[in-house]
Amino acid sequence: MKTQPIRFLRRGQVVSLTVETNRTLLDLLREDLHCTGTKEGCGEGDCGACTVVVGEEKNGQLELNAINSCIRMAHSVDGLALWTVEDLKSEDGALHPVQESLVQCHGSQCGFCTPGFAMSLFGLYEKQGGNPVSRAEAQGALSGNLCRCTGYRPILDAAQSMHQHLPVRVDRAAVLQDLRDMAAQGKTAKARAAAAEDTYHRPARLADLLQLRARYPQAQLVAGCTDVGLWVTKMHRTFDRIIDTTRVKELRRVEQYKHHIAMGAAVTLTDAFAALVADRPQLASFAHRFAGLPVRNSGTLGGNVANGSPIGDSMPLLIALGANVVLMSVRGHRELRLEDLYTGYRQNVMAADEVLAWIKVPKAVPTEFSRVYKISKRFEDDISAVCLAVNLHLKDGVVAQASLGVGGVAATPVRARKTQAALQGKPWNQSTVKEAMQVLRAEFSPISDMRASAAYRSEVLGNLLQRFWLESQGGSGSSLESLVVEGAAA
Ligand SMILES: Cc1cc2nc3c(=O)[nH]c(=O)nc-3n(C[C@H](O)[C@H](O)[C@H](O)COP(=O)(O)OP(=O)(O)OC[C@H]3O[C@@H](n4cnc5c(N)ncnc54)[C@H](O)[C@@H]3O)c2cc1C
Ligand code: FES
Ligand code: FES
Repeated sequence: MKTQPIRFLRRGQVVSLTVETNRTLLDLLREDLHCTGTKEGCGEGDCGACTVVVGEEKNGQLELNAINSCIRMAHSVDGLALWTVEDLKSEDGALHPVQESLVQCHGSQCGFCTPGFAMSLFGLYEKQGGNPVSRAEAQGALSGNLCRCTGYRPILDAAQSMHQHLPVRVDRAAVLQDLRDMAAQGKTAKARAAAAEDTYHRPARLADLLQLRARYPQAQLVAGCTDVGLWVTKMHRTFDRIIDTTRVKELRRVEQYKHHIAMGAAVTLTDAFAALVADRPQLASFAHRFAGLPVRNSGTLGGNVANGSPIGDSMPLLIALGANVVLMSVRGHRELRLEDLYTGYRQNVMAADEVLAWIKVPKAVPTEFSRVYKISKRFEDDISAVCLAVNLHLKDGVVAQASLGVGGVAATPVRARKTQAALQGKPWNQSTVKEAMQVLRAEFSPISDMRASAAYRSEVLGNLLQRFWLESQGGSGSSLESLVVEGAAA
């Protein structure tokens, strides 16, 4: 197996190691560095026992984010700052406010999950500048952490009392300077090193990414690795060569235009949803229901779209909003509607030398009414059984334009064309909706699997359109949601 050097910052020191291409960050920590405070539970991003915090410079500021180390490639932290649970306690042994709080609120019993909770709370503490946090903020920050014995009430209490202890904050200016120094030294070292031997590539510019893609079309492209990481940990796949898109500056940008938002494919789900929610605030609860925070901090919008899972959550929404994707290669670029990207189950039109570069999402307009509904067995950190997104433009009580994206009912995320036709030009009233519900239920032939039966999926799809109608009339539809979610679990 090929190895190559990586360097990252920890406790103010540069850690330099030679690491195998396919090594995960968790294995690096536990097996190579013997930092066994970070735990392995599920190995698939679901439990949060392996949570660590990474720091990097974004727009001239240090940004700290909790991530799952079990499904991150070790090489992805090259050039970043890293905190594990071993790094919270101060030199003199005093506990960090996060740890002190967990102790005082009895937030731990067997303790297996505790390092992960501590790191998620550390991420929250830093994000909030050591200030008090609300219950909702605490729940959001802990959405990727599972505890099987303590119960969540004491842990949430701990989150809400962290600010009461002697404050301890990361010296952001110092870390930023250390990161810059490390990067400067890294450039000099790189100039001397035999970069041609590299098998884990982290291009910093789009032009370099496209050159690499053309040169190594068989290489595994990765972004946040929240899908690919599971191929490594669960399917034991190994890759001869990996191209990581997450350092490409152009692809990490969110650009605002008059009529659309252009999101680079390597923008994290956290940042992508923040931009979408700023434009359409009604998407906030949907954004919260996409995985858990550590997955959203690592995973990218481009990875979700390119992976093309039929139950991927962003695609029904993006289809309904009329998003386009831009594919790029050394040969040039092309733009297509998102739904035209897919040709079959996890298959798409991308050529071997192409990458997904941009996702262009039309901005909200005053005549539209849009909603997205996700039906899953758990409220958060769960994959959809069905997802429906509707974007309706009304003029004088008539449907001027209907756009519907659906997930969980076909081999790919799809546009509900027949239902759109059934709504187009019709008065927006209950009788139109009733007819459209029947069309929507009949439009797809979903499968039965562990998440839901085919009959349930079809039935609920129609119900969601009814809910959309009620909400368009000022109803909240919340009682309907609990009915639907209970139905999914049955
Ligand atoms: C615990 C957990 C919960 C999850 N919950 C949800 C959920 O609620 N909803 C949901 O939709 N998904 C969910 N996921 C799946 C996953 O998080 C998302 O699909 C995520 O967006 C993937 O992005 P990534 O950057 O991690 O992709 P990666 O894993 O890095 O890559 C995924 C695929 O996309 C390709 N790819 C990445 N970037 C590009 C590019 N620029 N051009 C071409 N190809 C590219 C890769 O080659 C790979 O085939 C969950 C995953 C986990 C582990
Ligand atoms: S070990 Fe469960 S999320 Fe990583
Ligand atoms: S304290 Fe035992 S799993 Fe959380």
